[in-house]
Amino acid sequence: MFSDWLVSIFILGFVTQSLASLEALEDELILLKAAFYRQTDETNERLKTLQKEVDDLKRENLNKDQVIGDLQRTLNDIIETHENTSYYIELHTAKAQPRTSETTVALHTCFTNDVRFLGRNQILLFNKVVTDTQNRYTQSTGTYSIPFTGYYVITWVTPAVGNIPLELVVNGEPIGRTDPSSTGNGASQSTTGLAVLRLFENDNVSIRTHTDATPTGAIVNNIWQDSCFSLWQI
Ligand SMILES: *[C@@H]1O[C@H](CO)[C@@H](O)[C@H](O)[C@H]1NC(C)=O
Ligand SMILES: *[C@@H]1O[C@H](CO)[C@@H](O)[C@H](O)[C@H]1NC(C)=O
Repeated sequence: MFSDWLVSIFILGFVTQSLASLEALEDELILLKAAFYRQTDETNERLKTLQKEVDDLKRENLNKDQVIGDLQRTLNDIIETHENTSYYIELHTAKAQPRTSETTVALHTCFTNDVRFLGRNQILLFNKVVTDTQNRYTQSTGTYSIPFTGYYVITWVTPAVGNIPLELVVNGEPIGRTDPSSTGNGASQSTTGLAVLRLFENDNVSIRTHTDATPTGAIVNNIWQDSCFSLWQI
């Protein structure tokens, strides 16, 4: 009987103790929960802060991209302006470049004597070459071959006794005319033809008697006067 008591008391003691432990455990759990929630709140807070920092950085980067883009555009403009300026300087420098002696085009060729017995469509073979910078005049054909495309002044001075209609011819095509004729008393009359033409490299230039009129008399070249064919590039 006594042992039954003992057992009962023991069990009661045990249960009481167990209940006490359980309460302690519950308290501890509540504390832990609170700690956990606090921790979570803190973590959330920290996360929010970090997120804000990231957002700020992103915004800053975006601004930087914009600034870099603006700088790039400015740089491109500067480069383009520089290129344009260089281009125009080059263009104007080229225009302002003086013609060198190597590129000077000048011809001056004359007769050494009177030229008689001319027929129609006959090229004048000026036989005394005074100036031919590019060596483009062929005496045997009386033809000058244009060395460089450009603008040229062409002139022919022909004192004549009689009547000798002449043509300036480029590649076989008449492009200028004169009609030297004297009054018939034996005195010569000088006539000058002049043309300013755009000509192309290898164009052939010469002076010939008119194709439709038979010349009479002579082209004169004596101690008083010269008969010449000249041209130069301008
Ligand atoms: C450069 O020249 C081009 C063509 O003439 C023109 O369209 C452009 O606006 C110029 N750029 C600047 C920066 O002057
Ligand atoms: C000029 O004459 C030369 C020689 O006759 C000829 O080869 C050349 O084709 C002529 N040039 C032109 C543009 O007709």
